[in-house]
Amino acid sequence: MIEKALECFKEKFGSEGDIRSYFAPGRVNLIGEHTDYNGGHVFPCALSMGNYGVARKRNDRIVRWYNMTYPDNGVQERSLDDLAPNDNGLWYDYQHGVLWAMMKSGVEIPFGYDMVMVADLPAGSGLSASASIEELAAVIVKDLCDLPVDMVDCAKYGQISENEYNGSNSGIMDQFASAMGKKDHAIFLDTADLSYEYVPLNLKNEKIVITNSRVKHNLTENSYNSYNTRRSESEKALADLKRVADIKTLGELDNEEFDRLSEYIENEVNRKRARHAVYENQRTIEAVKELRAGNLESFGKLMNDSHVSLRDDYAVSCDELDILTEEAWKLPGVIGSRMTGGGFGGCTVSIVKNEYVDNFTGSLGAVYKERTGLEAEFYIADASDGARRLN
Ligand code: GLA
Repeated sequence: MIEKALECFKEKFGSEGDIRSYFAPGRVNLIGEHTDYNGGHVFPCALSMGNYGVARKRNDRIVRWYNMTYPDNGVQERSLDDLAPNDNGLWYDYQHGVLWAMMKSGVEIPFGYDMVMVADLPAGSGLSASASIEELAAVIVKDLCDLPVDMVDCAKYGQISENEYNGSNSGIMDQFASAMGKKDHAIFLDTADLSYEYVPLNLKNEKIVITNSRVKHNLTENSYNSYNTRRSESEKALADLKRVADIKTLGELDNEEFDRLSEYIENEVNRKRARHAVYENQRTIEAVKELRAGNLESFGKLMNDSHVSLRDDYAVSCDELDILTEEAWKLPGVIGSRMTGGGFGGCTVSIVKNEYVDNFTGSLGAVYKERTGLEAEFYIADASDGARRLN
């Protein structure tokens, strides 16, 4: 990958000077969905798939970017002084948004740079291709300009890029996972205060299998509005609860407290959304406890419960994701399976015993094709380090 990008860089921008290479991963979330903007916990890991970049510092304030995945866009050129927000949601807007967020937060970026990027992560599949682009931009500018920011800051700039530049009210999970991933570990992140722990995955006899439904999770269409709608439904539920409880987020409640208070949420739909947010957060805390204790079967059951809650209470699944999970639950060697990411298409994540992985991909692929006419794609997730310089 990186060789291809380097060759392309030399062709577009010349071979002289200090040319550096970088990588920023996508992520898969194991459990804790739609909890990150509700002050709850998430449990993602960074993938070995993501976006690669080759870059060189310039002596002026121009940034020039070329993305090998989208050759038709050509070389994008902007001045650091002219990065006005828009909501196109195109790949370069995620990068522009990060630079804009850094400067808006008071970070001085003295120089621009030339960059070529290439991805081995399918875009629009719910594996955080956009966060990976954001964290790639962040790690490049941090390194080339020697900026006094850390990788948690870079995650925050990525979220600002999403929220204020690209029109998505997303939480911080994706950017945090891409920026802070650790090989063979998942990140147990409390989004209320960004405290986190790395939890070893220690899966010797099992694999984490990602199944791509190939139904597009298009961030600029209805699905995206639906994401923002879910967020505002949760916020309305919280506003109702705040009238009777001293809380700042839904993540502060446990299941019993929620059950006691839920009658104060006026709208039935909002009540269901909030129930998911609260129960999913508790489920995530419980799941991590079980994983740490070596109880993978219990972890898997909680993954299944998470899917049911996302399907029934949070209503962010879709037929294709429901078929993939329901069929997965029937297969031998499957410890747990659920939709992962924002939903409305994208991927499921399953934990499958090693000796059943071939059967899993074969059987699930066949039944999915039979029921939907679509070809699923499968990837074995390999928990990896976060965004970084490679040379
Ligand atoms: C998307 C968002 C995240 C998170 C998930 C759902 O991936 O970008 O912030 O809310 O959906 O868990």
